[in-house]
Amino acid sequence: MLILGIETSCDETAASVVEDGRKILSNVVSSSIRYHKKLGGVVPEIATRHHVENIDKVVARSLEKAGAAIEDIDVVAVTQGPGLVGALLSGISFAKSLAFGLGKDFIAVDHLRAHIYSALMQDGAPGFPFIGLVISGGHTRLCLVRDYDDFVLLGDTLDDAVGEAYDKVAKILGLGYPGGPVIDKLAKDGDPAAIKFTCRPINGSLDFSFSGIKTAVLYYVKQHGIRNTDGGIRDIVASFQEAVLKVIAGNSLKALEKYKLKALVVGGGVSANSRFREMIKREAMFRDFKVYFPALQLCSDNAAMVAGLAYRLHRKGVRSGLDITARV
Ligand code: KG4
Ligand code: ZN
Repeated sequence: MLILGIETSCDETAASVVEDGRKILSNVVSSSIRYHKKLGGVVPEIATRHHVENIDKVVARSLEKAGAAIEDIDVVAVTQGPGLVGALLSGISFAKSLAFGLGKDFIAVDHLRAHIYSALMQDGAPGFPFIGLVISGGHTRLCLVRDYDDFVLLGDTLDDAVGEAYDKVAKILGLGYPGGPVIDKLAKDGDPAAIKFTCRPINGSLDFSFSGIKTAVLYYVKQHGIRNTDGGIRDIVASFQEAVLKVIAGNSLKALEKYKLKALVVGGGVSANSRFREMIKREAMFRDFKVYFPALQLCSDNAAMVAGLAYRLHRKGVRSGLDITARV
């Protein structure tokens, strides 16, 4: 079965053709990030405009790359949310029109569940249930995942999401947008124990709060300045990153223990982070559980995960009506 996935939740206009939920025939992403970089963060109006202007070309390119004609597509799938409302609506309207015009099934997919699914698109994926961890620009969320359509929320973002904290710290340090990849790289040569930034788990809960540590970095920089040597910035980002990632790893371990599960499935932009992968893989070895990450090209927003998850939902009989709208 061929599914065309469309994803426009934030600054990536993406389309993908996936066969039977896992075989990615094309995965086209057109990012508007170059326009946002100058402004230090995603501007919703610019992102939406980019989607509206490019979605038809991105879809055409994904079909061409997959060697498929539009008539060959069995289902049209789209990200329903969460995301930026205008951005989501541009993809949803396009996908609905396509499904209606072609007389194909239509499925609206949850963005965060699709991030988790991206780690299940390779060989050796775990069976249900498992603990799902979404670490992205908009969310830090732990779930008990019982099926493709059965997620129980265990812990969530209370203020800044982890990716947002990376982006804000990068902005404070003048490192540009997005902050995650550059901090990941710089931190490799920094001392994670150089500065004591506190980031504590919230007592008795699996929720996450990262706005405090972001402010701590801001005050540190105000007080000490950014020393003009590379080591200065490297130590700051390594110390920030270590504190944040330890809380995420800690809560994930607590969730695994609480539900006596042996599999952790991670997704979202921050799941590309090299230090987090290293940290959690070491824990997995010592504590005898398995951790599953998406392929690097599937960590950030993409439409392959949308088409992939839609296949699983379609097999369970799920169909969406053309009256659905964005879920921000
Ligand atoms: O999943 P995603 O593409 O979009 C959302 O759904 O939010 O995630 C984007 C986030 C950004 O905040 C970006 O800074 C972060 O993922 N990110 C990273 C890395 N690569 C991207 N954070 C830490 N380390 C990375 N290597
Ligand atoms: Zn995302």
